[in-house]
Parts: sequence; C-alpha cells; structure tokens
Amino acid sequence: MATSQVQPSMLSIFVVFFCVYGNVVYGQFTKFDKLTLPRGVIGPEAASFRGFMAEGPFTTVIDGRIMKWQGPNIGFQFCDGTTDPDKGPICGRPLALSFQPITGLLYITDAYFGLLVVGPNGGLATQLAGGFKFASGLDVDLLTGYVYFIDASGGGPAVSADSTFVLVPKLTGLRVLKYWLVGLRANTTQVLVNVAGNPNKIKRAERLGEFWMAVSVGQVPRRPPITPQGVRINSNGVILQTVSFATEFFNKTISLVQEQSGKLYVGSRFTDFIGVYSN
Ligand SMILES: *[C@@H]1O[C@H](CO)[C@@H](O)[C@H](O)[C@H]1NC(C)=O
Ligand SMILES: *[C@@H]1O[C@H](CO)[C@@H](O)[C@H](O)[C@H]1NC(C)=O
Repeated sequence: MATSQVQPSMLSIFVVFFCVYGNVVYGQFTKFDKLTLPRGVIGPEAASFRGFMAEGPFTTVIDGRIMKWQGPNIGFQFCDGTTDPDKGPICGRPLALSFQPITGLLYITDAYFGLLVVGPNGGLATQLAGGFKFASGLDVDLLTGYVYFIDASGGGPAVSADSTFVLVPKLTGLRVLKYWLVGLRANTTQVLVNVAGNPNKIKRAERLGEFWMAVSVGQVPRRPPITPQGVRINSNGVILQTVSFATEFFNKTISLVQEQSGKLYVGSRFTDFIGVYSN
C-alpha cells in the first residue's frame, strides 16, 4: 500500500456531508435496473459519483477507457464524448476511480500506469506514481486528501470516514484486514472479518462507519456457480446485511458494490451493464 499527499479538504463541507448522510435506513434492495454500456463495451468495474450533485456514475471499462452515465436518454459516453467502441484504448487498464469531493480531481489506478489523476474538466490523465506490479483499487481520504491504493492485490481499500483506519481485502485469503493509521496500534494490521467468499472492492456505505464489500462466493478456488453478494459490515467487522445478486449476475464474479442515494451500483468485469438495486 502506498500513499501520496494531495490537498487538504475543507472540514466544514465535510461536516455538512456527515449530517446529510448520517442516518440511512436500509431495505432489502429487491428492485433491479440496469445502466447498459454501448454495444461491444464490457467490464464496468467502478461506479464513482462526482460532487454533491452526484453526477455519474463514472466507470472504467475493459478497453481502457472511462465512461460517464449521462442519464437514460443518452446512456454512457466515453469521456471524449463518443460512444464508439472501435476507437481503441486511450488509457492503459484503469481498474478503479475515486473523486476528491472538494477539488473534483479524479484519481485512477491503472494496472500498467500506476496512480493517475485527471482534473475536473477531464482530458488526459497525469501519472503521479508508477513502477507497481498491478495497481488495482484506490480510495481518497475525505479529511486529509491522502490517496490509498493497492498494488498486486485483487481489490480495493477503503479509508474510514474519520481517517483512523484502512480496510484491505484479501481476495484469495477470504478475509478483510484493518490497518490502523493512528493511535497505539498505528501501522499494525488485524484481521477484521472472515468472509464466505472472495472480497474484491470495499466502499464506504452511506451510513457512517459502515462499508459495502463486493464478495464472490466460489471465485477462488473456483466452485461454480459463483454467487455474487453485497456484504455490509461495520467498523468492528460485524456483518450487518448480505444482498444476493445471483439472479442478475448469475455465475459471475463482481468487483464492486457502491452505495449512492440509497441504491447499490454493482460492477462486474463480465457484464455489459452496471446493476442498480433499490428499494
Ligand atoms: C507509521 O508509518 C509511517 C510511514 O512509515 C510513519 O511516518 C509513522 O510515523 C508511523 N507511525 C507510528 C505511530 O509508528
Ligand atoms: C459457471 O461458469 C463456469 C465457467 O466460468 C462454467 O464452467 C459452469 O458450468 C457455469 N455454471 C453454471 C451452472 O452455469
């Protein structure tokens, strides 16, 4: 895991954010919709939203580009404004996205190019750090602006909203680790929770102190049919809810469960859509 300092964010805005999103009630997520990619494009493995208006989601796709959902009438567009699947990759192999909510900077981890950043107006990404084996997931600390990302691992980290720890999934180890950033246990790791399947990306839930993990039961070692699940945990590793996506993502691994405005956005490298589960 590596960090890089960016810009300090504004605490007051964060406090407002806290108050708005502090009290979420969870249902069973039985309603299903799809955000479908243009023909010939597959593998949405991210679903990041920008700013307080929650524009997006933005996603990475398998040919190396980043796409933005422009609403049901337009659908997804590449960030150059096209839907042409034959234009070829303009990036490498981006695997995860995370916005810095105050500055609007978009951080990207790319399997080939490491850690990249794009300004709020888009354009070509700038490499911030390279030389990694396989940079996969990332997360931006909302309070400090530090960027955490994972090298040579299956999934993605999540920083707690109070900046005290980072959760790290062990894809093949079937567990999630908690890495302390502060206090007596700073720079030490504990096993937070053992999982029934393979944990990929972990994202902060909208309810403070909780997280959603994308878990694929039967991925490694392979035991088809694979059962994809969203698993919600708290900071102590207590499993609070498990939502099965097995009907719509039958026998497929998933990469990501991102909660936004009470809905779960589910990404997989094997589909041509982002699944949206709501109540
Ligand atoms: C934790 O590690 C960081 C980076 O090596 C270091 O700067 C910091 O002082 C360490 N903190 C403690 C409490 O050991
Ligand atoms: C699930 O997918 C694997 C290949 O990835 C295949 O071998 C298996 O037959 C599939 N299982 C079902 C029940 O479709």
